[in-house]
Amino acid sequence: MRKWLWLLPVFLSGALLLNLAGTAWANGGPHGGYTPTTDACAGCHRAHTAQGPNLLTATSTYELCMSCHGAAGTGADTNVADGKFVAARSPSTEGEANTADNGDLLGGGFVNYKTAAVTSIHNSDGTLMAAWGFGVARGQTANLPSSLTCASCHDPHGSPNYRILREQIAGNAVTVDQVDEGPANKDYDDEHWPDNVSNVCVACHGAYHVTRPNSAEDNSDNGSGNADYGGDISTYAHRVGMNYAYGGNADPEATGYGGYFLPLTASKNVACQTCHLPHGTSASMSTLATAPFTNDSALLRLDNRGVCEVCHQK
Ligand code: HEC
Ligand code: HEC
Ligand code: HEC
Ligand code: HEC
Ligand code: HEC
Ligand code: HEC
Repeated sequence: MRKWLWLLPVFLSGALLLNLAGTAWANGGPHGGYTPTTDACAGCHRAHTAQGPNLLTATSTYELCMSCHGAAGTGADTNVADGKFVAARSPSTEGEANTADNGDLLGGGFVNYKTAAVTSIHNSDGTLMAAWGFGVARGQTANLPSSLTCASCHDPHGSPNYRILREQIAGNAVTVDQVDEGPANKDYDDEHWPDNVSNVCVACHGAYHVTRPNSAEDNSDNGSGNADYGGDISTYAHRVGMNYAYGGNADPEATGYGGYFLPLTASKNVACQTCHLPHGTSASMSTLATAPFTNDSALLRLDNRGVCEVCHQK
């Protein structure tokens, strides 16, 4: 089920890397790879008869994306509203060879996920909100330079980054390498993450990026909750970017714990996305786990603190 074999060095041969580089800007569907006389612009923009800002054919960026990627969309197999990949939805064959039909999308869902209603999302409908750790403490509202939409994270015109993630987010340069996802390119339900996959999150939540190793009581060089690092969200935070191994725990991706699994990067490192889903989750939280916000599941992959148990097995 975990297709790590695709990452074997044989697939990372020079020929394949060249191939990836050559197609880096054409990321499936209408996103990128445009020729000088392309017709693609007209699918999303009209010069004189547009319905929304940016000369869009829909009333907003969100509505435009959802016209293909939404629950009723017929323009893409990836249904991000329900967090499902459904091959029969569109003529596109992108990802069909590697992704299970009806498989759960890696990003999660904006309305439902794993057939249950979502309990937290990155609300992408254009509402102005605060990104905690972007110079503001958790719980604050409305500080981002612009409202959060699908295009805050993705470039609809293609990008050399994984999943057409923007090269600039909230004023920060973002690199998330594309990796080989298997012979027919995309795999939308099994992770093949580069080691720098957290970079997209860090662009807006910089203060959560604690990567220092755990070295006793030296405050200048500490991570994993053992030192006061003086961030603007709290003073102690869980480290990211390190290998998952802690006290002889089982591989959270291959072995899991109690039937639950967590995804890791190519080098088996912990990323923000190991614990969080970028679009939305249906995880449920009870009593202790709902704090500090009312009934908030904080985009976590598993119910309550399942994410802690898969690695620490206390
Ligand atoms: C899949 C839909 C889609 C296609 C195809 C598309 N665009 Fe866009 N474009 C958008 C969206 C959505 C925005 C607004 C992004 C935002 O909300 O910030 C946009 C914004 C723009 C902008 C203004 C912002 C910027 O990035 O400079 C320009 C100019 C533009 N598009 C030109 C084009 C041209 C030219 C083509 C054809 C080569 C094209 N677009 C194809 C969806 C698309
Ligand atoms: C906060 C950043 C962010 C926002 C906002 C966002 N996405 Fe994503 N999206 C991601 C990331 C990161 C991935 C890669 C998930 C993975 O492969 O682990 C992704 C993946 C995807 C995929 C591939 C399928 C999947 O689930 O992996 C599609 C399609 C997509 N996003 C569309 C959208 C649309 C449409 C919107 C707006 C309704 C949106 N995204 C809003 C970050 C975002
Ligand atoms: C005309 C239909 C259409 C529109 C509009 C559209 N997409 Fe897509 N998009 C596709 C298709 C087709 C694919 C290929 C995968 C599939 O079938 O779902 C795709 C793929 C993607 C992917 C995955 C890229 C990868 O590297 O695999 C992302 C992310 C994405 N779209 C985001 C968006 C966002 C954000 C918007 C709005 C700005 C948008 N799309 C608007 C049709 C569309
Ligand atoms: C473009 C800026 C942006 C990016 C990139 C971004 N976020 Fe956020 N994030 C926000 C904003 C704004 C909010 C608060 C608004 C909301 O509820 O959607 C938020 C909220 C959150 C929350 C709290 C959700 C809740 O309901 O309590 C978590 C957890 C989170 N982000 C994690 C991530 C992770 C993990 C990534 C990378 C996959 C990421 N963010 C990327 C802007 C961003
Ligand atoms: C080991 C699991 C784990 C990892 C890795 C992780 N988080 Fe979290 N995150 C959580 C938990 C659990 C919460 C719920 C609140 C809490 O316990 O502090 C949370 C809450 C959040 C929130 C909501 C606001 C808040 O502070 O409660 C944001 C934003 C967030 N995380 C961003 C990130 C970013 C960005 C990264 C990567 C740099 C990241 N997280 C990595 C487990 C994790
Ligand atoms: C993907 C695996 C993984 C997950 C998920 C995870 N941890 Fe960890 N945790 C680690 C690793 C690895 C370290 C050691 C990091 C280091 O070297 O600094 C660590 C360190 C810690 C420490 C510091 C221990 C010490 O020896 O100083 C605490 C406390 C902790 N984690 C609690 C949690 C909690 C609570 C959660 C859930 C919110 C969680 N962890 C989720 C892997 C994980």
